[in-house]
Amino acid sequence: MSERKDLYADQSHIPLRFWGYSLTESPARFANPDLVQQLTNPDIDADEASFYLWGDVGRGKTGLAVAYAMTRLAWDNPDVMPSSVSYWPVSRLLREIRSSFGGDAQLEASIFKECRAASLLILDDIGVEKPTEWMQSTLYEIVSVRHEERCATLFTSNLSIAELNARIGERTTWRIIEMCGAENIVHVAGPNLRDRA
Ligand SMILES: Nc1ncnc2c1ncn2[C@@H]1O[C@H](COP(=O)(O)OP(=O)(O)OP(=O)(O)O)[C@@H](O)[C@H]1O
Ligand SMILES: [Mg+2]
Repeated sequence: MSERKDLYADQSHIPLRFWGYSLTESPARFANPDLVQQLTNPDIDADEASFYLWGDVGRGKTGLAVAYAMTRLAWDNPDVMPSSVSYWPVSRLLREIRSSFGGDAQLEASIFKECRAASLLILDDIGVEKPTEWMQSTLYEIVSVRHEERCATLFTSNLSIAELNARIGERTTWRIIEMCGAENIVHVAGPNLRDRA
C-alpha cells in the first residue's frame, strides 16, 4: 500500500487492522454480492451516498464500510485530492465527547467539527449504547448536520431500523432513513466471519 494511503488512513483514525481491506476481497462478498456491487458501482455519487449496513455480529459490516472508504477516495491517485474520512466507533465518539465535559470545550468542539467536515463519516456500531436523553441528543446533533448538508455517511449497526428507532429516537432515525434511502439500507447476511479464526 502506498505511503500516501497510509497517511490518510491514519488521519481518518481507521484502525490499522483494516488498512488492507478491500471490497473485492471482503469475505462478506459471497453472502452479499448485491451489496458489494452497490458499493463498487462507479456511478455512485460518493459525496452524497449514505448507507446503513446492519446485521448480526461478525458479518463484515465494519470491514465493508472501511473498505468502501479506502476505495472511494482515490488515495492512490496523486492527481486527485483525497477526501477526508473520519471513522468513529459510536461508543468511543460518545465517550470522548463525554470526557471533554467539565473543562475541555475545545476538544468537544473539535470532535463535532471533524464529524461535520469529513467528506465521508463512518459511524460504526450505532445503537449499542444504552438509550439516554444525552446520548440521543448528541447523536441527533451529529446526524442532523450530515443530513442537512447531504454528506456521505456510513452507518453500521447490529440493529434493524425499527430497533434503532427504539434506541436512538425517531428524529435521528428518520434522518438516517432519508439520507440512505430504502435501497441503501442493507441487511448484511451470511455466516459469522470470525468463526473461521
Ligand atoms: N474486507 C475485509 N477484508 C478482510 N477481512 C475482513 C474484511 N471484512 C471483514 N473481515 C474479517 O471478518 C471479520 C468480521 O468482520 P467485521 O468486523 O467487519 O464484522 P461486523 O459485522 O462489523 O461485526 P460486529 O457486528 O461485531 O461489529 C473481521 O474481524 C475480519 O477478520
Ligand atoms: Mg463492526
